[in-house]
Amino acid sequence: MPPTSTSPAGWFLSFEGIDGAGKSSHIGRLAETLRAQGSRVTQTREPGGTALAERLRELLLHQPMDALTEALLMFAARRDHLVQVIEPALRRGDVVLCDRFTDATFAYQGYGRGFDLKVLNQLEEWVQGPAPLRQPDLTLWFDVPPKVAADRLAAARSPDKFESQPEAFFDQVARGYAARMADQPQRFARIDATVSMDEVWTQVLAACQARGVLA
Ligand code: TYD
Repeated sequence: MPPTSTSPAGWFLSFEGIDGAGKSSHIGRLAETLRAQGSRVTQTREPGGTALAERLRELLLHQPMDALTEALLMFAARRDHLVQVIEPALRRGDVVLCDRFTDATFAYQGYGRGFDLKVLNQLEEWVQGPAPLRQPDLTLWFDVPPKVAADRLAAARSPDKFESQPEAFFDQVARGYAARMADQPQRFARIDATVSMDEVWTQVLAACQARGVLA
């Protein structure tokens, strides 16, 4: 068991940031680096990560729905993902690399959509409880101004339901991440994602080494 992990075994890492922050390539690179040092890695994502949750992802990313329905489906997908994939992997002692987790729900549904944070807190307790709630041991928050992220996305691909939101939405989402970090600073590492890919990678390595995830 790693010395400072709050998990019974293994490590649970999540990766967060507004769309276009550039986290995905670093998740793959970190998985390779961890495997090279002999760690077993489970690389996964939310919404998704199981057959059921991937079907919910399709709906969540492309189907218009009201805010409560969206929040319920996000947490339904998360519950299935936790039970089927994340908890078993942590029990095996894997390093779980999860592209987004509950901070995204607070940031996007809570701050972005303005949905009731009390309801999200309740859902978080049900899905990740009983106390102490399952939370990532380390959350890497790729922080980048919405304008920079929008320019990156415009060059990249056709947008899904969230990516096509206006810049003001992403200002709110970024505020949501900042609020979650202020609330639970012990598990967050803020990554300055405005710099070059190599410089971002250096920060990712440093954050993982500081926690003992990487030697
Ligand atoms: P993303 O993780 O960016 O995947 P990709 O790189 O394939 O586009 O897409 C997931 C989208 O879902 C993203 O726009 C954020 C949104 N989302 C929420 O709104 N709430 C959540 O709880 C989660 C996990 C994701």
